[in-house]
Amino acid sequence: MVVIAIVFPILYVAFPTKAQDEINSADLVVTNQSILSPTADTFYLEQTIVLVTSNDDSATLDAWKASLCLEQQCQYPFAEIDVPKSQAKNDTRLQVSQGVQIINMTEFDKYTRLALGSEVFNFYLKGKGKLHKGAWPSANVHYDKEITLKGLNALNGFNVTAFHIMIPPLADGTNVNGTVYMPNPSISAYELGGLALNMSVDGTPIGTALLENVFLGPDNHSFPITAITNLTMVAGLVQGQYQTGVLPVDVVGSSVIYMGQHIPWYEQALGALPLRVDLNITPALQQAGLVGSLDIGPPP
Ligand SMILES: *[C@@H]1O[C@H](CO)[C@@H](O)[C@H](O)[C@H]1NC(C)=O
Ligand SMILES: *[C@@H]1O[C@H](CO)[C@@H](O)[C@H](O)[C@H]1NC(C)=O
Ligand SMILES: *[C@@H]1O[C@H](CO)[C@@H](O)[C@H](O)[C@H]1NC(C)=O
Ligand SMILES: *[C@@H]1O[C@H](CO)[C@@H](O)[C@H](O)[C@H]1NC(C)=O
Ligand SMILES: *[C@@H]1O[C@H](CO)[C@@H](O)[C@H](O)[C@H]1NC(C)=O
Ligand SMILES: *[C@@H]1O[C@H](CO)[C@@H](O)[C@H](O)[C@H]1NC(C)=O
Ligand SMILES: *[C@@H]1O[C@H](CO)[C@@H](O)[C@H](O)[C@H]1NC(C)=O
Ligand SMILES: *[C@@H]1O[C@H](CO)[C@@H](O)[C@H](O)[C@H]1NC(C)=O
Repeated sequence: MVVIAIVFPILYVAFPTKAQDEINSADLVVTNQSILSPTADTFYLEQTIVLVTSNDDSATLDAWKASLCLEQQCQYPFAEIDVPKSQAKNDTRLQVSQGVQIINMTEFDKYTRLALGSEVFNFYLKGKGKLHKGAWPSANVHYDKEITLKGLNALNGFNVTAFHIMIPPLADGTNVNGTVYMPNPSISAYELGGLALNMSVDGTPIGTALLENVFLGPDNHSFPITAITNLTMVAGLVQGQYQTGVLPVDVVGSSVIYMGQHIPWYEQALGALPLRVDLNITPALQQAGLVGSLDIGPPP
């Protein structure tokens, strides 16, 4: 759960201080967020925000446009969202459901890297609105707050939990299938689409892997994976330096394609995130009947 405090400085005095004090102490809690249907410069946002305040009077907040920024001065917003009109009282739920245009890609690339790479990250929400209360004239309010969200924490815990060598390979060269485990400790869901990954050992490429229709919701998830792997090279590695059969495989995202379109803001973030999987390849080799021909045994 993420707590967001909002500051409402009043530009001109419009109603009693007591009501204002109550509003000053309001928090916003983002309980749920989904980034859906990505394109090169847009996405669809579903976000649930809960207003937490000690105020139980019948004040109303107008709809307002929020700029989302990485820096507090908010010189270069990466997006704007429409926050709906709502009651100002405790436990009011706000639902944001809208297409979002990315207005500064440099900043949004940074945002995506933070969201992927950090345990916790911050951004800023800025804007102006109005508050209405009973017969009082409306008051201008400024929203200006640092927002803290949990990130994907560099996909810490990423793993290959099943690995199977396909004999014979498919026509396109696919010769490995298996299961990838991806934890998501955040409250955010990400619709990614097709992920292509480069795999290498000690800087030498050993193949490419594909995950299709990836929708990474909160919590831990497993996805099917297929790969085109140079098994000759893998065999060489386990006969040589890695006789335990455990290969330290470096994995890095090389493309993210949603509905046939590259999503560069995901690609740059995943391409900058090195992942390492210690892959015990012996069971797959045994299962495929390759252990004898490779002259290796099970790990000690
Ligand atoms: C979060 O929002 C999505 C989409 O609006 C919805 O399907 C899901 O049930 C929500 N999850 C929670 C925990 O509220
Ligand atoms: C606000 O609402 C929440 C959820 O219903 C409740 O737990 C909390 O005690 C309320 N706070 C106040 C000050 O009434
Ligand atoms: C986008 O933000 C960068 C800073 O990251 C800034 O240099 C650039 O001028 C901004 N572009 C636009 C179109 O505002
Ligand atoms: C998710 O995975 C992480 C890391 O692998 C683990 O610490 C955590 O307990 C798991 N959570 C659930 C709900 O399984
Ligand atoms: C990765 O998955 C394999 C197979 O399930 C398991 O043996 C291994 O302990 C896991 N590695 C980590 C770091 O969780
Ligand atoms: C891999 O493909 C084989 C068929 O070649 C199938 O039996 C197996 O269930 C698949 N394994 C995984 C983990 O997808
Ligand atoms: C696979 O690796 C072997 C040994 O390193 C190499 O000779 C061969 O060219 C590679 N095959 C492909 C298709 O890259
Ligand atoms: C993935 O591998 C391809 C082919 O070797 C290479 O062109 C590309 O730069 C690699 N991508 C990353 C992110 O390393």
